Amino acid sequence: MSCYLNQYCLLFSGSATPGADALDLLFIYYLIAAAFVFFSVVGFITYILLRYRNRDEEGEPPQVHGSTKVEVSLTLLAAALVGLFFYLTVSTMIKTNKPVNGQTPDLVITGHQWWWEAQYVNTGAITANEIHVPVGKRILLRFKSADVIHSWWVPDFGQKMDVIPGKTNHLWLQVEKPGLYLGACSEFCGAQHAWMRIRVIAQSPDKFQRWEQHQAKAVAASIAGNSITDMGRKLFNQKTCGNCHTIRGTKNVGKIGPDLTHLASRKTLLTGMVKNTPQNLHRWIHDPQRIKEGAHMPRFILEKKQVDALVSYLETLK
Ligand code: CUA
Repeated sequence: MSCYLNQYCLLFSGSATPGADALDLLFIYYLIAAAFVFFSVVGFITYILLRYRNRDEEGEPPQVHGSTKVEVSLTLLAAALVGLFFYLTVSTMIKTNKPVNGQTPDLVITGHQWWWEAQYVNTGAITANEIHVPVGKRILLRFKSADVIHSWWVPDFGQKMDVIPGKTNHLWLQVEKPGLYLGACSEFCGAQHAWMRIRVIAQSPDKFQRWEQHQAKAVAASIAGNSITDMGRKLFNQKTCGNCHTIRGTKNVGKIGPDLTHLASRKTLLTGMVKNTPQNLHRWIHDPQRIKEGAHMPRFILEKKQVDALVSYLETLK
């Protein structure tokens, strides 16, 4: 079921998954029931006001107390509504939250202040912020937090999932149509909570497989680069970048910041904050706090030439 008003509609999710459809349907049932209750109450009050208003100033009308018949029927009606919606809610929950019985997840997503890490369990591919998934396949996502509470929400997929330190949560995901789906962290998690966006790229299984296999590869031991690229590689090793970042295939294996093995293959930087261009990468390395205040990336005192070299090296990480 898609949004009935327009593509930016807030009432309904985008029906990108069967779970989102089930949730939309449940929402419509609730909307109908709420409208029924609202109009019954307002209608009844209006009727009473008109029917029993004091027309001829006759003084106090006869007072009536209690009516077993009315009270019993209202209680039964309310109980029937509650019962019906209990059934509808539980059956939707069963449909959208299939139990997880120790299955290995396809994808482990870790929330960090303020970015998302995605680990593809079958191939060992690791990426950040731009999460690719195959279309038409039901995959299991596992959520972990590296620090505080975050919440994963891509409105088109319907369900939200909290990401809680010390606890793992799961979500089944089956995206039906290829495309880019946008989401955001939905639990306040600090200064840059607003810039903890999610980009999910749903691709045909073939394309996805090619992407995943490429992302799983380590960088070639020594890429034939020009001298500035080589200088960047040396700087990266010298400047302790590897204490926080991993570039698979090199001695840099830090786990604090995003895996940079295929950084240049991503479209955006800083969880969708800016486009992944050499200029933006330069601005970021030059002074991270100026772009994303509070981010855990420290400012290194580097000459412009050195930043150029680092950017040149990072740009080779396709
Ligand atoms: Cu992470 Cu808000």
